[in-house]
Order: sequence, then C-alpha cells, then structure tokens
Amino acid sequence: MILAIETSCDDTCAAVVDGPRVLSSVASSQARLHERYGGVVPEVASRHHLELVNAVIEEALASAGCELEGVDALAVTTHPGLIGALLVGVNSAKALAAATRKPLIAVDHLHGHVAAAFLEPDPLEPPFLALVASGGHTLLAAVREHGSYEVLGRTLDDAAGEALDKAARLLGLGYPGGPAIQREAESGDSAAFSFPVAMSRGGGLDFSFSGLKTALVYAVRDLGPDTTAERRADLAASFQAAVVSQLVAKLDRALKGGEWEAVALGGGVAANSLLRERAGELCERRGMRLKLVPIELCTDNAAMIGSAARYGEAVAYPGYLGWDAAAG
Ligand code: KG4
Ligand code: ZN
Repeated sequence: MILAIETSCDDTCAAVVDGPRVLSSVASSQARLHERYGGVVPEVASRHHLELVNAVIEEALASAGCELEGVDALAVTTHPGLIGALLVGVNSAKALAAATRKPLIAVDHLHGHVAAAFLEPDPLEPPFLALVASGGHTLLAAVREHGSYEVLGRTLDDAAGEALDKAARLLGLGYPGGPAIQREAESGDSAAFSFPVAMSRGGGLDFSFSGLKTALVYAVRDLGPDTTAERRADLAASFQAAVVSQLVAKLDRALKGGEWEAVALGGGVAANSLLRERAGELCERRGMRLKLVPIELCTDNAAMIGSAARYGEAVAYPGYLGWDAAAG
C-alpha cells in the first residue's frame, strides 16, 4: 500500500493505492481561486497547498480505511511543475515518511500520467503507445515496460491544454479553459471556422499549437467584440476540433508502423469528450485496444503518482531527507 501526494500545479491531491487498486483518491481543486486571474498564480497555489495538504492527506487515509502506520511506503511528485507548489508536497511527504521511518519514492509527474493506465478499471499492461496531453506537456510515448518510456514526439511550442486555456481566455470563457471550451462547443458548429492543423511533412510526430492560437487571435480581431461574443460557440467548437484533429492525426501517424496493439490516453486533455470519441473511432478502425483512463484519473490526481511509484525506487530513511523539488 502506497500513500501518494501530488501538488505540482493547482490541485492538492493525496491517494492510497494497493497495486492497481485505488483505495482512495482525494483532489482539492484551487481552480476557482485562480479563475479570476485567468490562470494559475504560483504563489497563490503554494500558499493554498500549504493550507490544504494535511486535510487532504487525512481524508485520503480515512476514506481508504487505513492509518499512516499501515502503509508500506510514501510517494510524491518531485518534478516537473511549479517549484513552490511541488515543495509543499515534497516536504510533507518527507516529514511523514521520516516520522514513521518509512521509505519514500520520488515520481516524475509525466510518468504519473502514463501510469494512470496501469490502474483499475481494466489496467493496461505494456507495451502500448501513450498520448499524454496536459496543461504543460503534449507527448507521444512508447511504453515498452513499467517505469520508463521513450518519447516519440512532443510539442515544439504550446501544450494542447495550454492552447485550450489561452483560447478560453481570449473568448472570455474562464479557467480552466479545456472544460469551458468543451461546454461552449456543445452548441457550436465545428466547421464554422477553418483553423490550421499543423502537420509537418515527412511524417514527424511532434506537435505544434502556436499557429492555431495565432489564427484564433486574428479571427477574434477581425470579427470584433460583438460578433466574437455572438459566435463564441462556433469559435470554441472549431478551435476544439482543430486541437483534437492534430492530436488524433499524430496518433494515427504513430500507429501506422504497426508496432502497437494498444493505446492509452492520459493527461487533463484526455478528459475531453471529443478527443475520447475520435480516438475511439481511430482505434476501432485500426483494430486496437484503447484504454480510456477515467476522467478523474486524467486530470491531476495522486492515484496515478502511487501507480508510477510501484515501479520507482523506494529509498529508505534517511536517504530522502536531502531531496529537493525541480521545476523542469
Ligand atoms: O494534467 P492536468 O490536470 O494538469 C497538468 O499537468 O497540466 O491538465 C490540465 C489541462 C488544462 O489545460 C485543462 O484545460 C485541460 O487539461 N483539460 C481539458 C479538459 N479537462 C481538463 N481539456 C479539454 N477538455 C477537457 N474536458
Ligand atoms: Zn498533469
């Protein structure tokens, strides 16, 4: 049994996992606090992690029906993320592990998003191809064994979630942008505007979303504020469709070689219903298994950190006392 802690961005999370079983997963979102700024304010995030972290850990233990003494090890996200935010989780984990003389496991946040696929329901075992799209990262990864992956493609500029967050801000839809765009897009026409889908020649697997973002900036400027407001749903639907088209097109490219029999989607953007639907169609057409991680395990959570920790190095007390967090 592992008690995992995750505070890399604006969600204060703790979870208890037992192998692939999630015994509890608690996430306290700070989204409402950051909404009025249109994005995460790092200092505000750290301060709130500090206020919330103990209660979140206690709740994770209580709803798992166990005590701190009963867990075998602790795990914590040490990188990448907002440094002040990460430090709260790292220091809490170090303190709890040291007080109980338990081992501690350091986890890379992106490994966590991949490892969400190893959790129930229907755990997926390697090998598989993973598409991880979050607020800070977008990558295609070859997962050949637990505990490591090879990056086949990544974004050259903005992450998919970052593009959605910036688009939502431009359209006055609030933060976080992905869910807001998805909601607005429901009543819009995705063919109303034709936004660019960056597809490099030569079959490369890298992503690019900055051209798409610029296209939206120009569209909004040309329409003017009144027409932009009137056509907000069409703009949101067309923008969302362009983001999803690129993600699915690169996934399709990566699958062409025929090496893979299974695909997993992870990261906050994998909560997007259009992406889930389009990836489902693609995998069905190609006759491969698609692991759709439950939505609450796509967005930041600590269960995925506990899942990755199963394949990480458990460092015995006092070896971890000198650990630090890292932004990159
Ligand atoms: O993985 P995550 O929770 O945090 C990071 O590691 O960044 O991902 C957050 C990102 C944000 O950009 C958010 O707008 C996006 O995931 N997101 C979504 C949806 N839910 C969250 N994007 C599209 N559709 C959603 N339903
Ligand atoms: Zn994340």
